[in-house]
Amino acid sequence: MTPPAAMPTMPIGPVMCVVGARPNFMKIAPILRALAAHQPPLPALLVHTGQHYDASMSDRLFADLRLPQPDLNLEVGSGSHAVQTAEVMKRFEPALDTHRPSCVLVVGDVNSTLACTLVAVKKGVPVVHVEAGLRSYDRKMPEEINRVLTDQVADRLYTTERSAAANLQREGVAAERIAFTGNVMIDSLLACREHARPAAATLQAHGLDPALLAHPQGYGVVTLHRPSNVDDAAALRPLLEVLAEVAAQLPLVFAMHPRTRINIERFGLGGLLRPEHIAVLPPQGYLEMVGLMDGATVVLTDSGGLQEETTALGVPCLTLRENTERPITVEQGTNTMVGRDVQAIRTGVAEILAGRGKRGRVPELWDGRAAERIAADLYAWLRAGTP
Ligand code: UD1
Repeated sequence: MTPPAAMPTMPIGPVMCVVGARPNFMKIAPILRALAAHQPPLPALLVHTGQHYDASMSDRLFADLRLPQPDLNLEVGSGSHAVQTAEVMKRFEPALDTHRPSCVLVVGDVNSTLACTLVAVKKGVPVVHVEAGLRSYDRKMPEEINRVLTDQVADRLYTTERSAAANLQREGVAAERIAFTGNVMIDSLLACREHARPAAATLQAHGLDPALLAHPQGYGVVTLHRPSNVDDAAALRPLLEVLAEVAAQLPLVFAMHPRTRINIERFGLGGLLRPEHIAVLPPQGYLEMVGLMDGATVVLTDSGGLQEETTALGVPCLTLRENTERPITVEQGTNTMVGRDVQAIRTGVAEILAGRGKRGRVPELWDGRAAERIAADLYAWLRAGTP
């Protein structure tokens, strides 16, 4: 699919930027700023599908990231994958008809990413995918399906690490459609780091005693939300048990996703989280999360974004997943894959507490200027009217 040929003097239609779920917000914020700062400016429209809707999962991040209010909120809410994807598609189509954008720009790998991509390509609107080409090669992950399908039909693909282009080319994506522009998530991290909220203030704000953090070894941060870890009691229980063990040596701050909180209650596992060792918090704002990570001794997570953010911050990360679509965080960064292997988790923490955690280095083009490179490339691409 090629963008419509444009005469050099013709105005470029709006870039319709899509967000749906929490990890999209930190990716789109620097892109919107870079489109506005580009000379000449690229007009943009922000569409929120409403996949995430709680104040803690959405509004709060908009404020922290200084995101403008969306031009359009599709308010799809939660549902099964089919229902959620279908609802986004149904509600996105008329928005495309009304606004007639020059292209649709999607980020990441959530259901909203794929849903809007499918609608746009079938209507002949060019699709731009930011964070293309990442692969876990685990098709049981819904995000992997979203990534593979989005990349197959996207017209312009921006990558965060060099391995992504090789993945794409193996799937038949032409090299000319791909540009290595760096990591927009790290643009947000670097822009917000100095405004981050100190961890003690975050605990206090939730009525918790910050003395918990004053341990000689520091503290660890935990996030868990992957269905494979939290939807099944047989997977979740041993993870919470080993976290309780770790917490007896190193206090933990657990910023809990709604999916995880609901399941812990449902399975009756709340008793494993002893408040004298583990501070359980609701999902945190971006400035709180950056402050928590930046001061941590270790981060234990199954998030994709946190693997990258800890690498950029130089904080050791233990990833509670069997695979990662972000291999550079392991090869160059601070990330170690421990899966659901409780012994690997114990050993990983022990190594870090013994001062042998990975220091890592910051990967190529994770320099805070990825969005700027995307805006420059996108402008040239839309102007040229060819991929
Ligand atoms: C989604 C993304 C995942 C991303 C994650 C970050 C897909 C397939 N998954 O997973 O890649 O890492 O977001 O959070 O798109 N809920 C609320 N409030 C909200 C949103 C959700 O309480 O604002 C609860 C609901 O019970 C909902 C559940 O969380 O059913 C799951 O939400 P959903 O958007 O389906 O998936 P996530 O697990 O958040």
